[in-house]
Amino acid sequence: MAKGLADSAPLSKMAISKAHGEDSPYFAGWKAYDENPYDPINNPSGVIQMGLAENQVSFDLLEEYLTQHPEAASWGSGISGFRENALFQDYHGLQDFRKAMASFMEKIRGGRAKIDPERIILTAGATAANELLTFILANPGDALLIPTPYYPGFDRDLRWRTGVNIIPVHCDSSNDFQITLEALEDAYSEAKLANITVKGLLLTNPSNPLGKAISRPILEDAFDFAIAKNIHLISDEIYSGSVFSSSEFVSVAEILEARGFDNAERVHIVYSLSKDLGLPGFRVGTVYSYNDRVVTTARRMSSFTLISSQTQKMLASMLSDDTFTEKYIKTNRDRLRKRQKFIVEGLKSAGIECLQGNAGLFCWMNLGPLLDEPTIEGELKVWDLMVNEVRLNISPGSSCHCSEAGWFRVCFANMSQQTLEVALRRIKTFVRKRTRDGRFYLN
Ligand SMILES: Cc1ncc(COP(=O)(O)O)c(C=O)c1O
Repeated sequence: MAKGLADSAPLSKMAISKAHGEDSPYFAGWKAYDENPYDPINNPSGVIQMGLAENQVSFDLLEEYLTQHPEAASWGSGISGFRENALFQDYHGLQDFRKAMASFMEKIRGGRAKIDPERIILTAGATAANELLTFILANPGDALLIPTPYYPGFDRDLRWRTGVNIIPVHCDSSNDFQITLEALEDAYSEAKLANITVKGLLLTNPSNPLGKAISRPILEDAFDFAIAKNIHLISDEIYSGSVFSSSEFVSVAEILEARGFDNAERVHIVYSLSKDLGLPGFRVGTVYSYNDRVVTTARRMSSFTLISSQTQKMLASMLSDDTFTEKYIKTNRDRLRKRQKFIVEGLKSAGIECLQGNAGLFCWMNLGPLLDEPTIEGELKVWDLMVNEVRLNISPGSSCHCSEAGWFRVCFANMSQQTLEVALRRIKTFVRKRTRDGRFYLN
């Protein structure tokens, strides 16, 4: 019989630490959805999951490819193909796959940056890539600066097992949450005051949760800041292929090329196929570093987080097919742009504004005017109504460490167009029911 917790043998500090952040509303909302998931036929009053940054809008293209190329997902040459897959364990990964991945990353960047397959380190998703980089660049107790609002998973990925801190760089709506040199300096000084060594600045470009790419001048400023402070620059570009137009995305790789690769050794890019290709279940990510020592160490460390060779083989075939990738990238961008426009305009007609975005699988919605007090408590009250009354799981800005109350991330690509329409109708009804004489009332 299982004994009570108090009697059981103790676990490690890491095991019992709360640094995984899974108690936040970000994850609590997922639970609400899991317990009562919406289904148009069987549970039409259930919770609609709008808290999951998943891309299902172009899944038909992947399925079409696999129907036309069944050999890509098979063992290849019968039993010998099985052996090849089953026995392969080199942590460099399949060369064909690294080449295909490099070519895909170049295409997403509109051919404006060269990606060298030899600098690609394969990891089980961007989660592993971000943690792996943190392990390599910082010691326990050191810190990374991260502009807010940021992806809630970073609290787990960068801090939990590494013992590294996150120092937020506070951005706000006065300039559409853009990063400023002043905010970077403030965060850096805060770390110094607390006697914490800053090892790097991590940018998410395009941003999750803002759904917007970082402009070239801001990216240049951030890079110059990293050089001035002698710290690393990590650029999580997991949504780079989900910018609605390639010309609106500037990768840090382009900045390096334009500057003749000066100071390139402090720059590291994180990428994954979870978002742009909509394959989070395959666990395919990469660290792309311009620093030879980081490449060597990351490759060794990637032993802890390899990608199955069967997955690599299938994706090598898919991503090296130029006709497929070009069509996919273009169609996926077009569909995401359409979805985003639909939800943003729909919300606008309900009197709700969103940040003007140009990327990603979500929009950044301002429910500030609905709050009865501009605090995290006020925000969570509205969030609670959204989950329990409107039955939409959206992510409160506070779970993304947003400095301003009232902002929410709303995902729009993980459901059908019909479900999105139901979600929008529910929001409109909620706002209408609670508006009297032009004022919104929570009660
Ligand atoms: C900015 C960012 N980085 C990393 C990840 C983790 O992605 P993966 O599924 O590749 O581990 C996510 C997932 O939502 C993300 O939004």
